[in-house]
Amino acid sequence: MTRKAGDDVRTPHHVAIIMDGNGRWAAGRGLPRIKGHKAGTAVIEEIIDTAVKMGIKHLSLYAFSTENWRRPEPEVSVIMSLLRFYLRLHISRFCNKGVRFHFLCDLEAMPESIQRDVIEVETATAKESEMVFHLAVNYGSRAELVKAVQSCIKDGLKPEAIDESTISSRLWTAGVPDVDLLIRTSGELRISNFLLWQCAYAEFYFADCHWPDFNQNRFRDALEAFASRDRRFGGI
Ligand code: IPE
Ligand code: IPE
Ligand code: MG
Repeated sequence: MTRKAGDDVRTPHHVAIIMDGNGRWAAGRGLPRIKGHKAGTAVIEEIIDTAVKMGIKHLSLYAFSTENWRRPEPEVSVIMSLLRFYLRLHISRFCNKGVRFHFLCDLEAMPESIQRDVIEVETATAKESEMVFHLAVNYGSRAELVKAVQSCIKDGLKPEAIDESTISSRLWTAGVPDVDLLIRTSGELRISNFLLWQCAYAEFYFADCHWPDFNQNRFRDALEAFASRDRRFGGI
């Protein structure tokens, strides 16, 4: 279900977060960038717990973009091992917290070992129903839209058979409500190819701190700011 004017707008159904600033967090402490990625991974659990407590139904975290493959191989490799470690941790810690895990990406493009872990954690949490946690890895919104268009063509759809719901239902977020609140840490004011279609009417919140310093209080500040926004969806 997607929000429209007049709904109870105080609690967002879907919060998406661009977890940015790990490298600068580390550099500011004289540490290598990978320490920033490790510290950033540690923040995720607190944010998931807070989201569940606040009654958020969908939480999407941007962990690695299609463009991040341009980074030096040693950094990419550390991020991928953190992802594997995190997936294992998720199986043991989140199964009984009501959190269903969903991997937001073209799974087939990921290394096989990661594919297996993802399927395992998605299957293990399939019945959890408090919140869905979407982890975007190797995610690019343009690539996602291109795939959606390709699938319409492969299915032989005529132009007049294609409307907005046809596209939405062919994205990796099929069935997930549009983003209500998009948060980005690190002070950067851009969307970096994240959920372009799904953020059409999202409220934006930019936090000055780097991701490893984001915590439940800062998250609550963002939710409070959201609660005071006047959303119009093109109306008056
Ligand atoms: C976000 O932190 C994590 C990823 C993009 C993988 P960065 O690594 O982009 O950190 P900065 O922006 O360089 O500080
Ligand atoms: C966006 O951060 C991607 C993730 C947080 C995973 P980047 O650090 O890659 O974005 P740019 O390059 O500053 O736009
Ligand atoms: Mg960055």
